[in-house]
Amino acid sequence: MAKPGEGTQTELVAPLSREELSVVTANLRFALENCPVDGGVLTEDGSASSEESVRSLLKKLEAAKTRPISLRDLPNGEVKLLKAIAEYAIKECPIDGAMMLNSGRFISKDDLRSLKQKLDALPQTTTTAGRALSAVEILEQEHRLILRVVNLLPTIRRNVDAGVVDESVLPSVVDFFTAFTDGYHHAKEEGLLFPALQLRGVSPRGCPVGTLKLEHQQGRSLMGTLKSAVEKYSEGDPGAASAISSVLKDAEDLYTTHIWREDYLLFPMSGKVLPSSDQEELTRDSAKVQSKFGSGFLERYELLVDKLERSANQTPGPAQPIGSRVPIVSS
Ligand SMILES: [Fe+2]
Ligand SMILES: [Fe+2]
Repeated sequence: MAKPGEGTQTELVAPLSREELSVVTANLRFALENCPVDGGVLTEDGSASSEESVRSLLKKLEAAKTRPISLRDLPNGEVKLLKAIAEYAIKECPIDGAMMLNSGRFISKDDLRSLKQKLDALPQTTTTAGRALSAVEILEQEHRLILRVVNLLPTIRRNVDAGVVDESVLPSVVDFFTAFTDGYHHAKEEGLLFPALQLRGVSPRGCPVGTLKLEHQQGRSLMGTLKSAVEKYSEGDPGAASAISSVLKDAEDLYTTHIWREDYLLFPMSGKVLPSSDQEELTRDSAKVQSKFGSGFLERYELLVDKLERSANQTPGPAQPIGSRVPIVSS
C-alpha cells in the first residue's frame, strides 16, 4: 500500500482518477475564491501567479472529466502553478475541512501534500515558458536518473558484501547502465553532440571530449566485467561477490566524475560553442533518435530505478538509508 504522499512513475503516467482530479480542481477553485491568486502566489522559479492562468488551468482540468489526463500531460508551467498553489494552501489557508468533494469527503492537508509530492516527482519535459527541452537539457535531465542509480551503488555493494542482495538487483543494474546509460544516453552524446562540437572546432581527442569518450569506454568495460561476475555469482561462485563489489565501486567513482565533467564543463561549453541553429538541429536529431527507442523506453527505465530504490532500501541487513533522498515507494 502506498504511503500518503508517495507516488510511483506508473501513477504519474496513469490518468488522474476522478477523486484525484476533484482534489486538484477543488484546490484551484479554493485558491481563486480565498487566496490572493493574482500575483499572490510565487512559483518555484519566482513567477507570480495570475488569475487568468489559474482559471485557464481549472478549465482544462475540468474538461478532463470527459477526456482523461495524467499529470505528465501538463506542461511545466502548469505543474509549477499547481505546486505553488498546493504549497500555499498547505501553509497559509485553513484547508482542513474547508473544501468538500462531490463525494462528500472533505479535503485534508494530507491530500494536498500527496498531490504536491506527486507533482514534485514529475520529470521536466518543457521549460517554464512551455518550450520543449533542448537536446542538451534532456541529456542533463537523464543524468539525474543515472545519478539515482549511482547513489544506490554503495548500498547495493554493502548488501552484496553481506550476502543479502535481492537477486533481481544486479541484473537490473547491468541492464540500466548497458541499455539506458550507454545504449541510449551515451549513444546520443557520441552520435550527435560530440560530432556537432567537432564541426565547430572542438578536438575529439582533447579535453573534455576525448576524456569523456574514454570514460564511456571504461563504463562499457566495467559493465562487461560486472555482467560476467553477476553470472558467476548466480552460479554460486564464491569469489564473485568481491569482484562485483569492486566493479560497483569503480562504476560509482567513474559515473560521479563523468557526470560532473559533463554538467559543469561539456554542457556549458556546448552552449557557447554551438550557435542556436546548431542547437536546434541537435534537438531535432535527438528527438528522432529518441523516437526510435519508442515512447515507453524512458518510462521503463524510470520504473526500473523506482524498483531498484525500493529493493535497496527494503533489503534487511547492513543497508543504510540513501542520504536525505526520499525514496518513491509503491504498494
Ligand atoms: Fe557521457
Ligand atoms: Fe552524459
